[in-house]
Amino acid sequence: MGKIKKIGVLTSGGDAPGMNAAIRGVTRTAIYYGLEVVGIRHGYHGMINNHFVDLKAHSVSDILARGGTILKTARSKEFMEPEGRKQAYENLKAAGIDAVVVIGGDGSLTGARVFCDEYYDIPFVGIPGTIDNDIYGTDYTIGYDTALNTVVEAVDKIRDTAGSHNRLFFIEVMGRDAGFIALSSGIACGAEAIMIPEVHGQVSNLKNYLEKGFKRKKSSNIIIVAEGDESGGAFAIAESVKDDFSDYDVRVSVLGHIQRGGTPSARDRVTASKLGFAAVEALMDDQKSVMVGYHNNEIDQVPFRKVIKLKKAVNPEQINMVEILSI
Ligand code: F6P
Repeated sequence: MGKIKKIGVLTSGGDAPGMNAAIRGVTRTAIYYGLEVVGIRHGYHGMINNHFVDLKAHSVSDILARGGTILKTARSKEFMEPEGRKQAYENLKAAGIDAVVVIGGDGSLTGARVFCDEYYDIPFVGIPGTIDNDIYGTDYTIGYDTALNTVVEAVDKIRDTAGSHNRLFFIEVMGRDAGFIALSSGIACGAEAIMIPEVHGQVSNLKNYLEKGFKRKKSSNIIIVAEGDESGGAFAIAESVKDDFSDYDVRVSVLGHIQRGGTPSARDRVTASKLGFAAVEALMDDQKSVMVGYHNNEIDQVPFRKVIKLKKAVNPEQINMVEILSI
């Protein structure tokens, strides 16, 4: 066995359903291999403030089916500062933690990369955990599938009432910087259009589309808007079309944090368990500064350097497809 004796595990950034399955995967794999495990509560904030708790195999019993994260999570401003990271390093050393698994999104993995560039002797491995599915180097992030199913269920329900009243609905979904939830839910729910941050000038397209009028023969129109879209979100876009298209009965629905909660889907549990397992194996193979992710259904390791630098692209054909399929 290698030199690693004690692994720390934390969740950071927005919580995502399936994070608990990943914590369980990390904890049980590490214990199986004879390592000790420490849970770092409240993400990097807890690393700076010594929120450490020993995890045993039984500490992670009965958490697979639970949403949220038993370790709690946070977005830490202190960790963005060198003094914060120095304090975190000293605390890890004092606690005998010689490797860390970070479960989180873009910002969390950026923090991990910066830390590892400064302090070489504590390797970090990342697991992609965010409902947004917007991390470069992995086809899939923990929580995305559950969130998507929550959105689909909600939009289907809105479609029922939209159809009964012949209404135009703008439905806002999460995704501050990315439109993956909007795009996939748009396909799954047969939305008439989607508006996402990755595409510019969509408001005029939307107006053209509404002007054509033939869509009015449909009993309902559903437009899914990612919260980070340049139009400013569902309320703003509804406001901007309202006066020009007064014959449409317009309504807005913002789905909000309901998308982040709930029992994780089978897919999220399986993915998270596999990635938790793979993260510990990566550390035992002396890997550092890498994220374990999925590529073409295989587990892969991607350097933090790439994960941070490159932006995951949406597939333009799929955007086009939403419109084609809604004629
Ligand atoms: O975790 C990602 C995310 O859910 C984004 O889609 C959303 O923009 C953001 O977090 C919301 O963050 P908060 O919970 O801090 O409002």
